[in-house]
Amino acid sequence: MIDAARQLAVRAAVRLDAGVNAEMALDQELRAAGIDHPQRPRATDLFYQMVRWQIRLDHALSHCLSRPLRDLQPEVRAMLRLGALELLVERHPAYAVVDSSVSLAGKLAPAAKGLVNAVLRRLATAGDGPWPEDPVLALAVRHAHPAWLVGRWLAQFGQDDTLAIMAWNNSRPPLWVRVNRMRGTPAAYQDQFQVTGEPHPEAPTALALAAQPVRKLAGYGQGWVTPQGVGSQVVSAMLPLSPGWRVADVCAGHGTKALALLERQSRIEVLAGDLRPEALRLIPGEARRLGLPAPLTRSLDAAHPPRELLGSFQAVLVDAPCSGLGTLQRHPELRHRCQLEDVARLAGEQARILAGAASLVAEGGVLQYAVCSWEPEETTAVVEGFLGTHPGFAQVGRRWLTPCRENTEGFFIAVLRRSLAEDHSGR
Ligand SMILES: C[S@@+](CC[C@H](N)C(=O)[O-])C[C@H]1O[C@@H](n2cnc3c(N)ncnc32)[C@H](O)[C@@H]1O
Repeated sequence: MIDAARQLAVRAAVRLDAGVNAEMALDQELRAAGIDHPQRPRATDLFYQMVRWQIRLDHALSHCLSRPLRDLQPEVRAMLRLGALELLVERHPAYAVVDSSVSLAGKLAPAAKGLVNAVLRRLATAGDGPWPEDPVLALAVRHAHPAWLVGRWLAQFGQDDTLAIMAWNNSRPPLWVRVNRMRGTPAAYQDQFQVTGEPHPEAPTALALAAQPVRKLAGYGQGWVTPQGVGSQVVSAMLPLSPGWRVADVCAGHGTKALALLERQSRIEVLAGDLRPEALRLIPGEARRLGLPAPLTRSLDAAHPPRELLGSFQAVLVDAPCSGLGTLQRHPELRHRCQLEDVARLAGEQARILAGAASLVAEGGVLQYAVCSWEPEETTAVVEGFLGTHPGFAQVGRRWLTPCRENTEGFFIAVLRRSLAEDHSGR
């Protein structure tokens, strides 16, 4: 009998292989299966486990194949990765993995049944195969991370923290939510809905809940909770706010942080801007669900903000587009998609956006820069480059968030203040 969860996971992996992003690839498969499909949680878990461990699985499979894995039909590649995951990581019995993989091959790629059978039998005996001789590459393969990134983290954090970061990235994330303080505290939420959750010392509004479809969360429709990682909650909690202020979130996306600001202080006027107007469309509905005043939304290029807005905000948040390399636990596919060149390209964009956003800040106002990455090009270099060319701004706060110390996804946050009587000579 074909196991529905395995089939869904393989089909989603084929979509991912074709370039669809992971969340969408899985969503497209699951939507057809239905929100209440009993195999939905297991299919989701299998799919993300395959993506998370892919580098190690591909290494092991390469020893058992006579041709490169990339030359195989996508369905066959995905089935082999799933079988390898079950053998090497989940440690299921070999006979069960081989049997169920051959049955699935019979359905998805009948001509490859023999190949799937032979390769997985070989893998069951060979295990991971020899690790690479190069110590950085060996560490990278063993923990399923790209070698270029492991090399950088070793230089930046040392071996112990790099291992802790990789272990965190390879663990299954809980569902973090932000409890809407306009509705009540996390304790009140748990009492009212009889929900069990884990708090986090870095973010008083955060609760970790068991993974589940967001719309099925208790109290979701009544605006009690919104999915948001702990690090992301720290970003929105660090921006100084006062009643009556005009606040701009210039890379607002779907507005998660803009709405978190309004939950903290509803007596502010918030402009949520983004280059992509389609991202902003969800914000008014979300504000209604949360019982908040709707932010103004506006499609804009933060690197070149509209003239009429210059110097008019007491606080500006730049949640800049970034590599996302601090969020590999929740976004494991970035291990395969993000390259070193992307980091350099993004750093240029971040510098342009920060400089543009600075022109929106009123005298004495605050500019906060955040990225979910630790890469020096995207973090310290952007802020130091900015301060070097903007003498009217000074850094008044800075935070690094890491799995190994704060037990959160990775973030870098810098808080900059514009002086009252600004010297414009450097701008
Ligand atoms: C890290 S995401 C923001 C996530 C969002 N703040 C949240 O909390 O969910 C970065 C956003 O910046 C937007 N973006 C990229 N370049 C931009 C630009 N030049 N001006 C404004 N927004 C930009 C992207 O469309 C994306 O939505």
